[in-house]
Amino acid sequence: MAKVLLLNGSPHPKGCTATALQEMISVFDAEGIETELIQAGNKNIRGCIACGSCMKTGKCVFDDLVNEVAPKFEAADGLVIGSPVYYASPNGTILSFMDRLFYSTRFSKHMKVGAVVVSARRGGNTATFDVLNKYFSISGMPIATSTYWNQVHGFTAEDVGKDLEGLQTMRNLARNMSFMIRAIADAKDKYGLPEVERGSFTSFPDGK
Ligand SMILES: Cc1cc2nc3c(=O)[nH]c(=O)nc-3n(C[C@H](O)[C@H](O)[C@H](O)COP(=O)(O)O)c2cc1C
Repeated sequence: MAKVLLLNGSPHPKGCTATALQEMISVFDAEGIETELIQAGNKNIRGCIACGSCMKTGKCVFDDLVNEVAPKFEAADGLVIGSPVYYASPNGTILSFMDRLFYSTRFSKHMKVGAVVVSARRGGNTATFDVLNKYFSISGMPIATSTYWNQVHGFTAEDVGKDLEGLQTMRNLARNMSFMIRAIADAKDKYGLPEVERGSFTSFPDGK
């Protein structure tokens, strides 16, 4: 059974971002896709200190929720990152979490499907959306999209309940993501994964 991991970067387990993610979960349930929702935004998650320890061990030197989620991410076919907008950016906790999750893990994220969901009262949604999508676009992860940029509006969960287009965008996003996960699984069986070249790292004019 295909599995999608959803991360809530908000400190509110029942807030606006959670409402958007739950709307997606109801579609994944109907599509027969397993889900796990991880509440990250109310945890004490520190930033990456660039110690390089993970290069040797394959896990973060800080043994917290990041290391707990890593094997779940490895096993998942898709990842949804949800974040409230803070000063027109993702909130600090989810940024620290994502930096450490993506930097510390050595497993391939190639062809796992990614999606970003943002919640704002009023502005900064698309800047936040762009920042979070970059974790996927550097990792060979196809990005699922919807009928609008994946955002809901509100200050409370109740507000988001009234954002009908926002919720519709979440449902369409979850349907598209389910389709992509199935299509990629079929294509993997039929053609195998595309080759990935590695080995070159920051090339300069003299080739060193
Ligand atoms: C520190 C902070 C900064 C915020 N900055 C913005 C902002 O730049 N733009 C905006 O529309 N809302 C901003 N908000 C409001 C939240 O993003 C918004 O209410 C969001 O929907 C809350 O989601 P949640 O209930 O999942 O936490 C901010 C809230 C906080 C606490």
